[in-house]
Amino acid sequence: MMEWLLVPLAYLTGSVSSAIIVCRMMGLADPRENGSGNPGATNVMRIGGKKAAAITLAGDALKGLLPVLLAHAMGVNSLVLSAVVFAAFLGHLYPIFFEFKGGKGVATSFGVMLGVHALLGLAVAGTWFVVYKIGKISSLSALVAATLAPLYVWLIVGDVNLLLTFVSISLILLWRHKGNIQRLLAGQES
Ligand code: G3P
Repeated sequence: MMEWLLVPLAYLTGSVSSAIIVCRMMGLADPRENGSGNPGATNVMRIGGKKAAAITLAGDALKGLLPVLLAHAMGVNSLVLSAVVFAAFLGHLYPIFFEFKGGKGVATSFGVMLGVHALLGLAVAGTWFVVYKIGKISSLSALVAATLAPLYVWLIVGDVNLLLTFVSISLILLWRHKGNIQRLLAGQES
C-alpha cells in the first residue's frame, strides 16, 4: 500500500511550476501575464530567451521523470505507475502551489514518458524535434508528438493501463492547446 503514497508525491512535484520559479529567480516577467500567458518553456523562451527556457524545460521534465523513476525503483505495478504518471501531469496543469493555474504539460509528459521507458521518451522527443525542424512552431510539434504518443506507448510498452493513461494525457494536451490550434488554423501562431 505504501507505493500509493507516490501518487500525491507525484502531484506535489508536478505542481512545482518551473516557468514561474525560473522567471522569478531570473528577474523576468511573469509568464502567466506575458506572451501566450502559458507557464511553460516555450513562453519562457519568448520572455527570457534560450537559457531560461532550457532551465524551465529541464525542470518541468525532471518533475515528471523523478517520481516515475522512484516508482520503478520501488517495483510498483502498472496501475500504480499509471497513477503516478497521471498525477505528475495533473500537478503541472493544476498546481496546488500556484492557484491551480498551470501549463499545458508538454515537458512534464515528456519527463514521465522518459521515466516509463527511455525509448518512449526518445520517440516523442524525436517526433517533436523533426516537426520543429520542418515547421519551427513549438505548439505544432507538441500536437503531432501528443497525437502519436499513444501509438508509441502501445508499440514500446504494450501495457493497457499505461496506454489508457497516455491516451487521456494526449487528449488533455490537445484540449489545452485549443487556443494554439485556432491560431495555427488562422496562420497566426508564433
Ligand atoms: O509547451 C507548450 C507549447 O506547446 C505551446 O506553448 O506558449 O506557444 O502556448 P505556447
